[in-house]
Amino acid sequence: MNTKRVLIAYGTKHGATAGIAEQIGQTLREDGLDAVVLPAGDVDDVRDYDAVVIGGSLYAGHWSAKAKRCAERNADLLRHRPVWMFSSGPLDRSAEEKDIPPVAAVARQMQLVGAREHMTFGGSITAHTPGFLAKALLHEGKGGDYRNPERIRTWAHHISAELTAA
Ligand SMILES: Cc1cc2nc3c(=O)[nH]c(=O)nc-3n(C[C@H](O)[C@H](O)[C@H](O)COP(=O)(O)O)c2cc1C
Repeated sequence: MNTKRVLIAYGTKHGATAGIAEQIGQTLREDGLDAVVLPAGDVDDVRDYDAVVIGGSLYAGHWSAKAKRCAERNADLLRHRPVWMFSSGPLDRSAEEKDIPPVAAVARQMQLVGAREHMTFGGSITAHTPGFLAKALLHEGKGGDYRNPERIRTWAHHISAELTAA
């Protein structure tokens, strides 16, 4: 049996989304898949992959431009592969309490490539996150790491289960 090769492409500004992508990759590998994790801007061609996961961070309601362009650039090939998308954003527990739907631009990308599902994960800003606005949010007490490793693992196992069943 051929091991399925899965690409996890991420668009990040400050690394929180990269961390989620790495965790998804790690879990898929534990489940026996061949997972490769790459910055979305480095992905020229997805033809070597059997399935693709694309994630991006949210800023002022917008999904990562690098993740979006990665989906658009590869749309023709993605349409013929199983695709999942995720967003990294909320700086509170809301993503654990309810299903947060994709923002409109992500919903459009999902439609463009025929993505199967989307998941919103909590995001992260810490004292190490650069930028005036991040500092202002931290000052308002809105900082912290809300990426829930258990939720990320559960979602990744779900992807593995769909791919190994196929
Ligand atoms: C200036 C600023 C604006 C943000 N806007 C949003 C937003 O509109 N929606 C959201 O869910 N999260 C928002 N966030 C939280 C980020 O999406 C979160 O910190 C994310 O995990 C960052 O990922 P990255 O480090 O991969 O760029 C914002 C954060 C900052 C600093």
